[in-house]
Amino acid sequence: MDTPELLARLDKAERRPDALALRARVRGLLGYRPGDTVLDVGCGGGTAVAEMRAEGARAVGFDIDPVMLQTARDRHPESEFAMADANSLLLPDGAARGYRAERVFHAIREPERALAEAHRVLAPGGRLVLVGQDWDAFMIAADDTELTRTLVHANARAMPDPSAPRRQPELLRAAGFTGIEAEGAMAVFTDDTAVPMLTGLASRARDAGALSPRQAEKWVAEQRARAVSGRLFLAIPYLLVSADRT
Ligand SMILES: C[S@@+](CC[C@H](N)C(=O)[O-])C[C@H]1O[C@@H](n2cnc3c(N)ncnc32)[C@H](O)[C@@H]1O
Repeated sequence: MDTPELLARLDKAERRPDALALRARVRGLLGYRPGDTVLDVGCGGGTAVAEMRAEGARAVGFDIDPVMLQTARDRHPESEFAMADANSLLLPDGAARGYRAERVFHAIREPERALAEAHRVLAPGGRLVLVGQDWDAFMIAADDTELTRTLVHANARAMPDPSAPRRQPELLRAAGFTGIEAEGAMAVFTDDTAVPMLTGLASRARDAGALSPRQAEKWVAEQRARAVSGRLFLAIPYLLVSADRT
């Protein structure tokens, strides 16, 4: 998926009430005070950075994608953004009081390195919150359950770490974090806002050779028909994993 397409999808999804509530929950779990430096790693279009800044934090967004970063800067010129990989944040030790990463760790091949870097840049007393979906556990209503299972798993296989949240508590412990807690949230779509995402899932499964072009086309047509007739159902489980840097 190219960056403009991903941005368009993220823009739609992030305005939903469940997404607003999720980001508010992350801010609560971070528990920063005005003036604290808080990092958003894999910041995308910069919405979470702007929201934390509005609450008085010194929020800094990092991303590896130059198009994402330019978009974030254009949309939020008052906020700080920088190009950096999660594995190498180019900050001094203990520079931050908060670290968040939302829907990023499924794309990271070496989460151990990224978590070691998070531990390094956080000051003692700092907080970390990771939010991620489990790509192997998407729930989709469809006539052909078996084909849909194949499609979901083909998408998961295309991700470097599709079920990243499942191992985060143990990886965080190994990285030296304490006070590790996990909680769940669910994004449920029943209208046509999910169609671009479902189309993307079908295209990725087709490109991976898991579905034929005809199967992918038919599956998407069914999903469009479901959206029109009020029968669409897509649920994405999210995990929020929080920890203390002691
Ligand atoms: C699905 S988007 C999520 C954006 C935003 N966090 C949100 O939840 O709307 C994933 C973002 O993480 C960025 N990203 C992926 N791998 C990264 C890495 N290793 N270091 C920094 N950013 C990364 C991508 O460029 C993209 O902007």
